Amino acid sequence: MIGDLWYKNAVFYCLHVGTFMDTNGDGVGDFAGLMQRIDYLAGLGITCIWLMPFQTSPHRDDGYDVSDYYNVDPRYGTLGDFTEFTRYARQRGIRVIIDLVVNHTSDQHPWFKDARSSTRSRHRDWYVWSKKKPADADEGMVFPGVQKSTWTRDAVSGEYYFHRFYDFQPDLATSNPDVMAEIRKVMGFWLELGVDGFRMDAVPFVISGKGAGQRHVEHYDVLRDLRAFLQWRRGDAVLLAEANVLPKTDMQYFGASGERMHMMFNFQVNQHLFYALASGDTRPLAKSLAATRSKPPTGQWGNFLRNHDELDLGRLTEAQRQAVFAAFGPEKRMQLYDRGIRRRLAPMLRGDRRRMALAYSLLFSLPGTPVLRYGDELGMGDDLRLKERTAARTPMQWSDEPNAGFSTGEALAVPVIDEGPFAYPLVNAARQRGDTDSMLNWTERMIRMRKECPELGWGDFEVIDTGNRGVLALCTTWKNNSVLTLHNFSGDSITIRFTLGTERGRHLVNLFSSERIEADARGRHEVTLEPHAYRWFRVGGLDYILHRRLS
Ligand code: NOJ
Ligand code: CA
Repeated sequence: MIGDLWYKNAVFYCLHVGTFMDTNGDGVGDFAGLMQRIDYLAGLGITCIWLMPFQTSPHRDDGYDVSDYYNVDPRYGTLGDFTEFTRYARQRGIRVIIDLVVNHTSDQHPWFKDARSSTRSRHRDWYVWSKKKPADADEGMVFPGVQKSTWTRDAVSGEYYFHRFYDFQPDLATSNPDVMAEIRKVMGFWLELGVDGFRMDAVPFVISGKGAGQRHVEHYDVLRDLRAFLQWRRGDAVLLAEANVLPKTDMQYFGASGERMHMMFNFQVNQHLFYALASGDTRPLAKSLAATRSKPPTGQWGNFLRNHDELDLGRLTEAQRQAVFAAFGPEKRMQLYDRGIRRRLAPMLRGDRRRMALAYSLLFSLPGTPVLRYGDELGMGDDLRLKERTAARTPMQWSDEPNAGFSTGEALAVPVIDEGPFAYPLVNAARQRGDTDSMLNWTERMIRMRKECPELGWGDFEVIDTGNRGVLALCTTWKNNSVLTLHNFSGDSITIRFTLGTERGRHLVNLFSSERIEADARGRHEVTLEPHAYRWFRVGGLDYILHRRLS
């Protein structure tokens, strides 16, 4: 296979320019600020920034309601600043992917304003209309409890328009060739300005048949067309799909020969990983890894812990979901949309460093590409007084200066966390930089090790039987090199015994210490893991660290 697939051994870092760094004191982060902090990201070792929506927007859904696809929202800077930023990143070996939010626009987009102005307007068919309220208007809401319906009457034209998300996000009619041509133009525009690909928002809805009385059938060929266009314009650009779907449809999104999406977020593993953290039982996690094993050789999973949305637990059984709620979101105010938790990881784990290390060590060692979220490298917290998902979207905590060093302004668009155990005087980058044992320095070391183990990004994995549900043992192999990782999800110390079944598998070298382990005469290893401990071993002995074979 082509060895150039950069996304296979990448470390992604997701951030919103508006909450990263403010340079002009207006309380909103900007591209100038992000550029100032690029060296921090380079130092951390990340290789790709996933930049959340920054185009012109009324910001009723944090920019996921775009009103001009061809501009930078003035609060963040200009197109010139953006282009400088991608250049800055590239010079430091960091790639940039951006959100492509084309399932819907803002209701303030000129296309929608034109569409609603008359049934004969030029953009009328760019959206999805119905003269009468469709019978299923009360079904299929993505934000239940907040969103009332999926069809809303437009007072201007008197007809109903379809919106899978909030009512200010009218769905684009993606079956209309003119709409698809415009989407390609949007992609082409940002590619010219230096982006390395797109995180495609709400993919199952983009490709779904839309309209009153229509069955929601997915048109997967749309993905092949977008991919073909992308690759023609830029050979090494990638598409990362947000598609929280059942494993049986994964291959449809990747395409049987990898001709659709390069990457997909692994929601299946994400949810079962949280169940393992909550219950100490790794069996459903192992199952979810097996269920998402198949993908084309060029395809790749994007793994994550917490993202910018709620922790969606919709794919768990009722009993599993209740176990996660009980452990990590027992109070109503911590929950959202009847299916998830809106907290950040560190508060869910009560700031317990051992468990945070367990969770991140697992993230870095899972088959696929890790996707971090800004501030998690510090163990940042959340502010549950903020509404819905904003709770986990507070400004980056740089230092113990006012406003966490994020801004010199008086009024911030989103307040910094200044109370409790995760307040910025306690949790900030400056303080952690000086502490060898900090989460920040630990994360940097983990990223370094992750990059030194390309097996994890490229290889095939095997779940090793340890005879204990509390421990997940994964052995990942690529080009005759293997890494074995052990994660103890239980609060007990556990001794496991296992064999790797190969001659080389008799010798294990701990990648984070000088510990060496030899199997007994029968080829069996015995390892004791402290509560919530993790271990990474290179299989085959020291030679395989120093002289990792390249083929
Ligand atoms: C998914 C995004 O992750 C979420 O934040 C957003 O609200 C919806 N798509 C609508 O664009
Ligand atoms: Ca600013």
